[in-house]
Amino acid sequence: MTKFADIKGFVFDLDGVITDTAQFHTKAWSKLADQLGVKWSDDLQNGLKGLSRMDSLELILKTGHKENDYSPAEKEKLATQKNDLYLQFVQTITPADIFPGIKEFLDELNQHGYLMSIASASKNAPTVLSKLGLTDYFEHVVDPRTLTHGKPDPEIFIKAAEIIGLKPEQCIGLEDATAGIAGINAANEVSLGVGSPDILTEADMVFEDTNNITLANIEANMNK
Ligand code: G6P
Ligand code: MG
Repeated sequence: MTKFADIKGFVFDLDGVITDTAQFHTKAWSKLADQLGVKWSDDLQNGLKGLSRMDSLELILKTGHKENDYSPAEKEKLATQKNDLYLQFVQTITPADIFPGIKEFLDELNQHGYLMSIASASKNAPTVLSKLGLTDYFEHVVDPRTLTHGKPDPEIFIKAAEIIGLKPEQCIGLEDATAGIAGINAANEVSLGVGSPDILTEADMVFEDTNNITLANIEANMNK
């Protein structure tokens, strides 16, 4: 078991952890699913969280038993259509959209000398961070284009530790997706879930309210 004193860094997912861009991804994908005649459900919505753009489209098509209906070029077009709509939503983001308490938590981490990086599957992460005014907090962002495997594979979380010069065991990973929690656990990092404990059952600790994500509360959870 990792001890709190061993922790030197924090590896953040972005969408659904730092801000509610998860709702924008959901809106854009559900619109496309409608267009494709694929039934939307809570399970599909949760299953999509954390998946890359193409893996998301594949899951939607598979859910509707349409995985063999489109050529690679048509799939590219559909994914681009979704992303264009997503980017329209992203344009509306301001620093006021940072989840409550997250900016304070980032400041607390900085004050205590913790390192931090972004482990998001999103190619739009730098744009979202810039809209939120958080670019300076995250000098280190894993480029999802460099990855061989998507979440739930641990690759992105191992890379996110590596780019801040740490071993995975020295990091806590924050995630709102079950696929992400699985990746963090497989990377041997401590997993912190943001969302419902009923869904994030594999996380080492879960916070439903981002206001409660503080070093003191994390330490208390690890000493349980
Ligand atoms: C994140 C989100 C997913 C999204 C993925 C790719 O992991 O949780 O919902 O599909 O990034 O995002 P992108 O912006 O590259 O399409
Ligand atoms: Mg997420």
